[in-house]
Amino acid sequence: MDVRRSLSQHSGPRKSPHEVSRRLAEWVTPGLAPQDPVRMLEERVAGLLGKPSALFFPSGTMAQQVVLRVHAERTGRRAFAGHPQTHLHVWENQGYNALHDLWFHPVGDRNELFGLDDLRAVKEPLAAVVFELPQRDIGGLLPDFADLAAQTAWTRQSGGAAHCDGARLWEAQTGYDATFAEIAALFDTVYVSLYKGLEGVRGAVLAGDEDTIGQAAVWRRRMGGAIVDAWPLAAIALMGMEANLPRMAEFKAHAQALAEAINADGFAHTVPHVPATPLFHVHLPMSRHDAQRAAQHLLEETGIRLFLYARSNPDPGRSSFEVSVGLSGLEFTPREVVELIRGLPSRV
Ligand SMILES: Cc1ncc(COP(=O)(O)O)c(C=O)c1O
Repeated sequence: MDVRRSLSQHSGPRKSPHEVSRRLAEWVTPGLAPQDPVRMLEERVAGLLGKPSALFFPSGTMAQQVVLRVHAERTGRRAFAGHPQTHLHVWENQGYNALHDLWFHPVGDRNELFGLDDLRAVKEPLAAVVFELPQRDIGGLLPDFADLAAQTAWTRQSGGAAHCDGARLWEAQTGYDATFAEIAALFDTVYVSLYKGLEGVRGAVLAGDEDTIGQAAVWRRRMGGAIVDAWPLAAIALMGMEANLPRMAEFKAHAQALAEAINADGFAHTVPHVPATPLFHVHLPMSRHDAQRAAQHLLEETGIRLFLYARSNPDPGRSSFEVSVGLSGLEFTPREVVELIRGLPSRV
């Protein structure tokens, strides 16, 4: 099924071999001494985050397992804490446990951000606490900066590492009155993704101090992630940083305009009501199966992909879906999105 237009950032340019080839061809300047794009990318990310060192990984899944392993070896502790719906726990088949003998301590309520009191209630020594910014599976909620600072300070005082799952740090920064480096300074280690907000092909970068990143490089090799010739992924990511980072505030403003229109219409509503970043959830008065079917019919009839998949709800008559505004999302006006959502029941 051809996707003509998509509200989902995950249908971006990387899905088009032609677009990827065009961008790579643009990158190569004949006659110039070749620079290693992987090294350039690592230096660029380390500089932007104000960290001494950074390392490329083929995936965020691998980068985060590795960094948790390193924090565990350093502290001699096997447990790490995080939100009950954190990506590491929900979407990665518990790789941290299967491969690294680590275990997960969920903190706080599954539908809310956790707070300092929730962390204090964890009565087990922690190798690390994972802070996912924004918290994707609850609509991209973002902790207040002062709360976040208090929580990471507590984590470090209690002997654990504060680690940021910054798959969408590029987007999260728009919700703070702080630079990337000021946010990253709250954490010992930070992982960023190269293909979500940056619309690259794949890959991740892990940043931290020299010692931690040096140890992470050993585990990256052990796990088969020290791939040579990763330059096309790095080159595309560098281009994504050039093109998309300056536009994140625009993506967020558009997300807010879409959410405002959806809430004003009233058929559906958004969480959060006012998005803190370019990411939010739309809650529908429809079952997950009906929403999924309607979206499939919409795609077949118009070539428009409204969302990737519908999420279930404890109330089986309701469901939700994620919107993450990037370049493709800008093509949709608030009015069009409202009409598409309102039209879903008629497409079941
Ligand atoms: C919050 C978060 N963390 C980690 C990951 C894992 O990234 P990767 O797909 O590069 O393994 C994702 C991927 O969607 C994510 O959304």
